[in-house]
Amino acid sequence: MDFNLRALLTAQGGIDHCVTEFIRITDQRLPERVFKRFCPELLTGGKTASGTPVHVQLLGSDPEMMAANAHKAASLGAPAIDLNFGCPAKTVNKSQGGAVLLQWPERIHAITRAVRQAVPAHIPVSAKMRLGFTDKALALENADALASAGIQWLTVHARTKTEGYKPPAHWQWIDKIRQHITVPVLANGEVWNEEDARQCLTQSGCSLLMIGRGLVATPDLGQRIKDANYQGQSWQHRLQLLLLLAERLEDLNDKALTDRLKQWLHYFSMQSDAIATVFQSVKREKGKAEFFAALENAISATAQRNDLQSYNYQHSGF
Ligand SMILES: Cc1cc2nc3c(=O)[nH]c(=O)nc-3n(C[C@H](O)[C@H](O)[C@H](O)COP(=O)(O)O)c2cc1C
Repeated sequence: MDFNLRALLTAQGGIDHCVTEFIRITDQRLPERVFKRFCPELLTGGKTASGTPVHVQLLGSDPEMMAANAHKAASLGAPAIDLNFGCPAKTVNKSQGGAVLLQWPERIHAITRAVRQAVPAHIPVSAKMRLGFTDKALALENADALASAGIQWLTVHARTKTEGYKPPAHWQWIDKIRQHITVPVLANGEVWNEEDARQCLTQSGCSLLMIGRGLVATPDLGQRIKDANYQGQSWQHRLQLLLLLAERLEDLNDKALTDRLKQWLHYFSMQSDAIATVFQSVKREKGKAEFFAALENAISATAQRNDLQSYNYQHSGF
């Protein structure tokens, strides 16, 4: 997830650390400005405004270049380095980065070992893997390759590259991996609510979760999972986050901004019928002013229909 979303989501609590979007490493030592573009938090001690550490993720296949760039990220203040062996995108797989490497455990080992050796010992190096490329035959071997290269923990997205983002995620496979290696394993894939979290923790045997889309859809999901007494945020509160994002993105043109907000609204609507109704009535608006007018109308109409308190929000500049 990007800088703005990280700022807003970590402010909701319940998140122990987050990871940047991957920085693609080919044949260059990237300049400082690239790391700071992906991770502006490097300017603030490697933490978001609410104090959550942000780990820098690298994706690539050349051990020497991965090591040099990991060293650079660490020297710029990254609190930890994460290596991506899970991205299914064609473009990155074509240039031999991401999940494609799961076909060759020895290459994964070489990359990870080079990175571990280049990064000062007190800075953790972690990795993220899928269960395989087209099948799961090498899942344990890949996990071994990573663990024996010296990583501090492993995040497992419980699907192969071929399985893409199609449910289900195979949480029991995470358990096989967890039992096979001695480094801590974080379970990932298809956790959208508290019940999914419970199931995933039970089936994987893990005590730690990594959550992607579920947290975008329900920003306080971390709190909901961690604290049984926590009163969840209302859907109106979620929409307020949308306005905060709009403020952070005020330099974008109308289309880029409304596209971005609709994307988030769409995630919200997966978990909230009230927001799904709001989404339907604003999804065609392309201008900022029209979008916010439609949003305001839809919110008050939905609030009345649901006999909820009228939603009182303020925004300026639109
Ligand atoms: C649009 C999008 C972008 C993603 N970018 C990254 C990325 O840069 N690095 C990464 O490790 N995972 C990335 N992921 C994968 C997620 O971190 C996560 O492993 C996956 O979505 C499954 O978990 P979830 O069901 O909790 O979302 C991305 C996923 C999506 C949908």
